Amino acid sequence: MSRTVYLNGEYLPEEEAKVSVFDRGFLFADGVYEVTSVLGGKLIDFDGHAVRLQRSLDELEMDNPISKEDLLEVHRQLVTRNEIGDGLVYLQITRGAADRDFAYPKDAAPTIVLFTQAKPGLATSPLADKGIKVISIADERWGRRDIKTVQLLYPSMGKMAAKAQGADDAWMVEDGFVTEGTSNNAYIVKDGKIITRHLGNEILHGITRAAVLRFAAAAQMQVEERPFTIEEAKAADEAFITSASMFVMPVVEMDGEAIGSGAPGTVAKRLREIYLEESLKAAV
Ligand code: PDD
Repeated sequence: MSRTVYLNGEYLPEEEAKVSVFDRGFLFADGVYEVTSVLGGKLIDFDGHAVRLQRSLDELEMDNPISKEDLLEVHRQLVTRNEIGDGLVYLQITRGAADRDFAYPKDAAPTIVLFTQAKPGLATSPLADKGIKVISIADERWGRRDIKTVQLLYPSMGKMAAKAQGADDAWMVEDGFVTEGTSNNAYIVKDGKIITRHLGNEILHGITRAAVLRFAAAAQMQVEERPFTIEEAKAADEAFITSASMFVMPVVEMDGEAIGSGAPGTVAKRLREIYLEESLKAAV
């Protein structure tokens, strides 16, 4: 069945949605994106994603072609039209089409695209019961990882390197410290304390991260925001990642070595439960 996608103000069958070969998203990766998860037909943390989208656009001096209210309506329309129970909504805004030039064009109209991906059973992923395996790789991305741009080739290379080693994902390391996962934020737990890198230009300010740290504090869990090393991760009691599409996902192996007992830890399991429960309550 053909999906309905949203392109520049129109709802179109996916085959009819076309973007110019001159689009700067295509030529320069001059675009930003957001991924919002859908559970039971409702959007998880829409507001957080809308706020971060505006920040990414502002950092790149890119016009926002849509109001927050209209953006919510488009998300809802796509979820309804494509009958999404569990899944996600992908949103991308680029600077638009213009003759190829490194300087930003003055008069290009931004391109806005949204589409859905159905992921039945997203919240009951069997992976969460097993946990995932990660490897460590050097972080060779650009320096403004706080802006959610569509330049995702290095993270793709990282995922492929992980797969080649029989793992699921990679944690990236810069100057001896873990920055984040290829498409998620990274955490370890030691002696009951949750440790995750502090915010800065080096990592994406995860919407799931913000929610999870809020819930952890509310549940009287100890949180320390600071850089940590791969050696600390290997010696940790447990580890996990967070993202809009994985929620809270336990990590059970690092570079072939078991973390803790080698099974999902109690803190990660508890946080996943709390996150899903609280996010569903607040879903729109
Ligand atoms: N990725 N760090 C990176 C590099 C990411 O790409 C993502 C999200 C996160 C987690 O952010 P959030 O909790 O707001 O999803 C951290 C999305 C899911 C993706 O690219 O598919």
